[in-house]
Amino acid sequence: MRRIYLDNNATTEVSPEVLKAMLPYYNGVFGNPSSVHSFGQEAKAALDLSRQQVAKLLEVEPNEIVFTGGGTESDNLAIRGIVEASPGTDKHIITSQIEHHAVLHTCQSLEKMGIDVSYLPVNRSGQVDPNDVSKAIKKNTLMISIMHANNEIGTLQPVKEIGKIARANEIYFHVDAIQSVGKLTVTPSDFEADLVSLSAHKFHGPKGIGALYVKKGTRLRPMIFGGSHERNRRAGTENVPQIVGLGYAAELALKEINTKSQSILYLRNWFEDRLLELISETEINGVNLQRLPNTTNIRFSNAEAEGLIINLDLAGVACSTGSACTSGSIEPSHVLTALGLAPEEAFECLRFSLSKATTREELTRVLELLPSLVDRQREISPLGIRSYPLIS
Ligand SMILES: Cc1ncc(COP(=O)(O)O)c(C=O)c1O
Repeated sequence: MRRIYLDNNATTEVSPEVLKAMLPYYNGVFGNPSSVHSFGQEAKAALDLSRQQVAKLLEVEPNEIVFTGGGTESDNLAIRGIVEASPGTDKHIITSQIEHHAVLHTCQSLEKMGIDVSYLPVNRSGQVDPNDVSKAIKKNTLMISIMHANNEIGTLQPVKEIGKIARANEIYFHVDAIQSVGKLTVTPSDFEADLVSLSAHKFHGPKGIGALYVKKGTRLRPMIFGGSHERNRRAGTENVPQIVGLGYAAELALKEINTKSQSILYLRNWFEDRLLELISETEINGVNLQRLPNTTNIRFSNAEAEGLIINLDLAGVACSTGSACTSGSIEPSHVLTALGLAPEEAFECLRFSLSKATTREELTRVLELLPSLVDRQREISPLGIRSYPLIS
């Protein structure tokens, strides 16, 4: 059975070109970039090239890129780094209720240390209202952290407007662009961001490697101490092969971004239209126009999504109920409930996330499978859903 992968917001397959570029750095070119000899200098040159490739994708300076151990670390470094670099304890952060847990749990850990955090609500499509951002600003507001694109529903936030508000009030602005980098053009200067997080495995690079854009002159306390790597922003011998992979993935994304995003968008819209035609009582979550081109989050009323996922998986189709980190959890998605869905409605939502490798034939196969699977699920679901134990 040929399997169909429609869970690209969880992770993507490493592009063959990216893997090929990485392999020599595991053996052959294996030096430590901090060593002065030629082995070290070869590795250092690879780091420099990757930094340029990532900087080019974001249209920033190479020395504004800090390599990290992935998106979660980038978010932690951005938020904790700013909070810990600023004097005193009387500090306030503004974020939204639908951020990834990499941001939410970082903020929650800071709350335990006495930092004040406002979690802004979103509308039914998952967008933060910039007026709410303005209203939430206090005398001690130090930073605003709002994601560019939501991982579960794909909704894009009005980061340009929020960036203007942050700038006008001299507040740091961090954007978690982990789902949008590689899918859309992301330029930190466009939304006046001081910090932008990205992660290679979301755009056909390897896992466990990411970067944080840190605007020149930003005071950031490192989280990891040791040597003077990454211009003293992140200590530890650099993961050269992974960094090389990140750089090539960034270069490839830049080359392909316009054409591939358009064709993915076209396929996604076609898929959604067919699904809405074929299956009654079906609703798309998230705003229509300002949404990632590859993401669709759909609610099939009275059909329990976990059951659908299992049956689709048995038929060779991989999709998800939300973020990878919360799949398997019996709590309803914090994103969907923030949109106003009741917990039992949140349990009826499936996420399909496409990539440049997704074909119309694959989506046609899913369209063949889903109507009868939804029907079957609807016959057995309603009581099941309502008897779910909820953990608060
Ligand atoms: C919006 C967002 N932020 C942060 C992360 C965490 O990134 P990583 O998996 O690289 O740690 C993810 C991953 O799903 C994400 O989608």
